[in-house]
Amino acid sequence: MSQDIYPVPAGFAAGARIDASGYEAAYRRSLEDPAGFWAEAGRRLDWITPYSPDAVKDVSFGGPGAASGDVHIRWFHDGTLNVAANCLDRHLGPRGDKVAILWEGDNPADSRAITYRQLHAEVSRFANALLALGVQKGDRVTIYLPMIPEAAVAMLACARIGAIHSIVFGGFSPDSLAGRIVDCGSKIVITADEGLRAGKTVPLKANTDKALDQAPGVETVVVVRRTGGKIGFQEGRDHWYHDLIAKADPVNEPAPQNAEDPLFILYTSGSTGKPKGVLHTTGGYLVYAAMTHEYVFDVRDDDIYWCTADVGWVTGHSYIVYGPLANGATTLMFEGVPTYPDASRFWQVIDKYGVTIFYTAPTAIRSLMREGEALVKTTSRASLRLLGSVGEPINPEAWAWYHKVVGDERCPIVDTWWQTETGGILITPLPGAIALKPGSATLPFFGIAPQVVDAEGKVLEGATEGNLVIADSWPGQMRSVYGDHERFVQTYFSTYPGKYFTGDGCRRDEDGYYWITGRVDDVINVSGHRMGTAEVESALVAHPKVAEAAVVGYPHDLKGQGIYAYVTLNAGEDPTDALKKDLVAWVRREIGPIASPDLIQFAPGLPKTRSGKIMRRILRKIAENEFGALGDTSTLADPGVVTDLIENRQNR
Ligand code: WT7
Repeated sequence: MSQDIYPVPAGFAAGARIDASGYEAAYRRSLEDPAGFWAEAGRRLDWITPYSPDAVKDVSFGGPGAASGDVHIRWFHDGTLNVAANCLDRHLGPRGDKVAILWEGDNPADSRAITYRQLHAEVSRFANALLALGVQKGDRVTIYLPMIPEAAVAMLACARIGAIHSIVFGGFSPDSLAGRIVDCGSKIVITADEGLRAGKTVPLKANTDKALDQAPGVETVVVVRRTGGKIGFQEGRDHWYHDLIAKADPVNEPAPQNAEDPLFILYTSGSTGKPKGVLHTTGGYLVYAAMTHEYVFDVRDDDIYWCTADVGWVTGHSYIVYGPLANGATTLMFEGVPTYPDASRFWQVIDKYGVTIFYTAPTAIRSLMREGEALVKTTSRASLRLLGSVGEPINPEAWAWYHKVVGDERCPIVDTWWQTETGGILITPLPGAIALKPGSATLPFFGIAPQVVDAEGKVLEGATEGNLVIADSWPGQMRSVYGDHERFVQTYFSTYPGKYFTGDGCRRDEDGYYWITGRVDDVINVSGHRMGTAEVESALVAHPKVAEAAVVGYPHDLKGQGIYAYVTLNAGEDPTDALKKDLVAWVRREIGPIASPDLIQFAPGLPKTRSGKIMRRILRKIAENEFGALGDTSTLADPGVVTDLIENRQNR
């Protein structure tokens, strides 16, 4: 573990939003008087009906000491506001002609600059178009789009009329799309003819058509023309986006929403069952996304801010669209991939637009690091002043390369720890206030009360290691699992009653810095994307030749974790390499490319207890190639299977 400390660069501290003593004072106040602290912070937004002081925080995490046994989370609950008005209308006066979205296409020749005024006009028209299609407040709208400005337009148009968007990442399969449409009961899907990535097309409309065979409740499909490729078009059901925009009234009054009205649903993988619909609401979410965006990235009016995530993930929601636009920033949206046309694309784009703040994932850094320094050094990157990292722990080698080669040792790196469920960043350096340690997300943001607990829930003090929980609420926290509040309570508040359980393990050092060590549940983190092992297993067992499957993560040089699948075939099936290929293709088709197993081992038997429970601990060790330390195997029903598993292990 690296012991290096990088103090705040002097030049950076001078102009930063907040310094070390400012951070300490604000952090202390935020925990001592959360309602007072957030009442003040909430004023960064324009409210239609202001919240009253006693409605700022109304929270119960349940648990033993709670007055009320139920779990409920409400912030600013008697206030009303409109998210789109906060992201657009209020900026028209001071910065109507400022660029809101800079768009860089997959092809470097394609780009667009959309001002706040233009974005406001387009969102207003599309909001009217949605209303004309019969979309009402509270309706769920599924968005299955590539990284084009129309994705942000669709999100903001939903927010403007109080519809709840549910974005499904464009890399997901028709089956995954169908599952998400059906789960939230949406009657409308917004998609594109095709997506474009690294010069190749992605058949989004065709995927949607396939998904709708399994989601008969959908009555309306809106199609953005992106490539002009040939698609099927069902008259009556399908509508071109550009036709709707052309016909729509350009004036739309933003509809007041209660602070606790739902803003969006975003599906994420857990340790069991199907992906859950994480539900975020309006007021608290936007306060938290905007405030963290401003403080963590030290954003000023002249910054060119670039987050390389996809709007299909929460990072895209909070830190490409909602946080930056609420702050009136210029946010860059990139359609392509880091390695096309070549592996200097990120650095080219930084120079092209004069990007000052750059936020990406460790997996991207590792893959570009492998391409060598020369590709970076052909570019200037002189505009950069701050770098960010998100999605998984960043290994110290990648951190050092990012700092030295990309940032020329000039730019602090904010390693931001958070989750789909948290709505915004919870543990992070504030770049003008907190000295950095490579690999540590450092200290909690305002209002965040992390605790490290042992397996029994005992709170561990000082330098220690255990499971990470958050002891109290913050405004950006998810409110429920859509349609299944009981699952929300079970998943997050039952392991350690009265506390939010993150699912992550962590170490706290002698300076109080947090070091996230990874998931402690059956979730794996592949290239910064969450995948439930249970989901991959159920895709595998759906194959006609598969009897049983167990999936675990193992360390992977580029992806952080890779997917290792143990597969037991039906009697009489041949364990061939061709079948392995077929299984990989099968999982890609069932879930999407991000779920592709990296290694498959055919296993005549899986290690089980006498009661039939698969001992994943053993499977994990073998996948990690650490079969010398399997621990206690005496409870196995048939210890013999382990010998076979070790002999035929795939990660050597
Ligand atoms: C899980 C959440 C939040 C945006 C992207 C992922 C891991 C995330 C870090 C970080 C160490 C991290 C955790 C977390 N994670 N950021 N900076 N350091 N681990 O969102 O898909 O909901 O995944 O990603 O394990 O629980 P997500």
